[in-house]
Amino acid sequence: LTIGVLVSGNGTNLQSIIDHCEDGSLSVRIGCVISNNADAFALERARKHGIPTRHINHREFSGRASYDAALVKVLREHDVELIILAGFMRIITPVLIDAFPNAIMNIHPALLPAFPGLHAQRQALEYGVKISGCTVHFVDAGTDTGPIIMQATVPVDAKDTEETLSARIQAEEHCIFPKAIQLYADGRLTVEGRKVIISSLA
Ligand code: GRF
Repeated sequence: LTIGVLVSGNGTNLQSIIDHCEDGSLSVRIGCVISNNADAFALERARKHGIPTRHINHREFSGRASYDAALVKVLREHDVELIILAGFMRIITPVLIDAFPNAIMNIHPALLPAFPGLHAQRQALEYGVKISGCTVHFVDAGTDTGPIIMQATVPVDAKDTEETLSARIQAEEHCIFPKAIQLYADGRLTVEGRKVIISSLA
């Protein structure tokens, strides 16, 4: 399976995917890494491992739809079958979603459906929850609303700051994102309505 990873920032999730590919615990090929941001450290990580990278600058496009059409073109050029949103800080449109039905995965730093959108960790701290975590889900047209594939929990400590909670959640992200991708690669994920059915190994 060939995946394309979309990033905007540091790229620790990308790094975890690369590391799992290299140690053999994730059997996919990373066809390309695309960023809207030329300075994303994630691009540097990809280059270091010889993975093709592209910077597609959203400022050069008239709107989200034409930007997404450019993404689709580059993803197709690299034979991408599954798109991984790994800290891609852009709202995507039906142009991308309809081109890759149930083949776009995102990771969100909260236990969805709680705390969708930006600053999920801050939202969780302000709400006062005692447990939070992260969610891997398929992407649909809403914000963080798609079918849930996998979740992991972390305790929230009374002394937590956004930074300490984010770090605890990220450690779990790095674990479950590669696992979810492998399930997809093994053909074990089926979307039925809003649910994802995980089949056992044949
Ligand atoms: C992660 O916390 C993820 O939950 C959110 O964006 C962040 C990306 O971090 N969607 P990184 O660039 O993978 O380090």
